[in-house]
Amino acid sequence: MKRLMLLIAISIISPELISAANVPVAPNGIAYYPEYMTWKFVAPSYREDKGHIRIITGNETAIAALQAGKNPLPDGSVLAKVAWKAEKHPSFPVATVPGAFVQVEFMVKDAKKYKETGGWGFARFVGNELKPYGKDAGFVNECFQCHTPVAHNDYLFTKIVKTP
Ligand code: HEC
Repeated sequence: MKRLMLLIAISIISPELISAANVPVAPNGIAYYPEYMTWKFVAPSYREDKGHIRIITGNETAIAALQAGKNPLPDGSVLAKVAWKAEKHPSFPVATVPGAFVQVEFMVKDAKKYKETGGWGFARFVGNELKPYGKDAGFVNECFQCHTPVAHNDYLFTKIVKTP
């Protein structure tokens, strides 16, 4: 009973805590980061072929390094990319806005642990169930390969947005 009360109390204070505990880890052992929407913003992006609106956020270590123009990023940096289906705003159809949640992806920096993949650990959680992507740990090759054209930029495509 006490445990139940505690769970109810936690779920009121922080619903993410409960749901994060239910999300299985990715096949390579990387756990879901429930707080990624509270991290600072790096940039938005739009992928034409998929019709996805995305935002990229970063934890404190990542943002501090990006703001200071540090490259490669230090260990402990984590970047998130969250995607929604792009849809027309019902009251203003020329405006394109985020609709259904698609997935969230993470890149976790640990130069030693993830030496084989440029120092980055990759993970993707798909759909509202946040199902970990990949049959086995080999899924990271797919991520890493597509990120190799930007090896010169520590395998990162996204630059911090310009503001005055
Ligand atoms: C087909 C190419 C491709 C594949 C495969 C791919 N990415 Fe990316 N990724 C991109 C591109 C292009 C961007 C730039 C932003 C965008 O597309 O919205 C990006 C951006 C990111 C970012 C934000 C940091 C950055 O580099 O800009 C993260 C985090 C990320 N990807 C994680 C992953 C993970 C995890 C996987 C594998 C499960 C993966 N990516 C697979 C092309 C790819």
